[in-house]
Amino acid sequence: MPTLQQQIQQFYDASSGLWEQIWGEHMHHGYYGEAGTERKERRQAQIDLIEELLKWADIQQATQILDVGCGIGGSSLYLAEKYQATVTGITLSPVQANRAIARAQAAGLGDRATFQVADALEMPFADQSFDLVWSLESGEHMPDKQKFLQECYRVLKPGGKFIFVTWCHRPTAAPQAPLTSDERKLLERIYQVYCLPYVISLPEYEAIAQAQGFQSLRTADWSTAVAPFWDVVIDSAITPAAVLGLLGSGWTTIQAALSLGLMQQGYRRGLIRFGLLYGTR
Ligand SMILES: C[S@@+](CC[C@H](N)C(=O)[O-])C[C@H]1O[C@@H](n2cnc3c(N)ncnc32)[C@H](O)[C@@H]1O
Repeated sequence: MPTLQQQIQQFYDASSGLWEQIWGEHMHHGYYGEAGTERKERRQAQIDLIEELLKWADIQQATQILDVGCGIGGSSLYLAEKYQATVTGITLSPVQANRAIARAQAAGLGDRATFQVADALEMPFADQSFDLVWSLESGEHMPDKQKFLQECYRVLKPGGKFIFVTWCHRPTAAPQAPLTSDERKLLERIYQVYCLPYVISLPEYEAIAQAQGFQSLRTADWSTAVAPFWDVVIDSAITPAAVLGLLGSGWTTIQAALSLGLMQQGYRRGLIRFGLLYGTR
């Protein structure tokens, strides 16, 4: 039985080529306006998410950026260009790291954007190396959320900023109800399909970040703004090119495609939440 890390690696090794072919370089939700009602081209929606996050966190400049869970470097290269910064991206998938390196070279950013296979729970970087740590939709894969935030804090320079966006479940502390067994079942199915050990609620992340020492903490729930993303993914998955690509991408990718409705259901039921956390060191 492969370990969680191996499963994640295999999942992204197998599916990233197809995702890029159908969707492009960004492997994250799109932003459809605060109320989730704006209609726009799908790649634009993903770029808008990055821009809205930068606005929300008020990032005016950055020089040394770390992209934790970088995919094929979609955000990394976007941020390198926008801020004229040096960017380092880490991923568990060698296929993704190699593709990100090739994309950086093709974009003329090979000298400022580097990518490597590394584990976010044991980052191969010295303390206080980066002034912006960016993590977009990778936290849900982390088996130890505490260690993950500890590592992000460790590599951040004093005064540096942390932007963390991740799949959460709804808050469960009183007066909210604990998760029901139906909710747990839906979460289990989502975990299995997307190689997630478990997710937690946004207030739980905030408590961990606070204990870790992050300052100026802010959180936000953007579920309504991003939920339409899954309707668009489902539409794109039933095109002939996607179906053909799926057949060549192995069982885990096919299973993920067949299960796209799970996330849609999760948002509709208010169970899945798209959580944002900002903090400084
Ligand atoms: C959904 S993709 C997001 C990619 C990218 N942030 C984007 O928005 O395009 C999740 C990424 O998290 C990475 N990841 C998951 N667990 C990781 C870990 N323990 N260490 C480093 N990267 C990890 C995966 O390899 C993958 O690149």
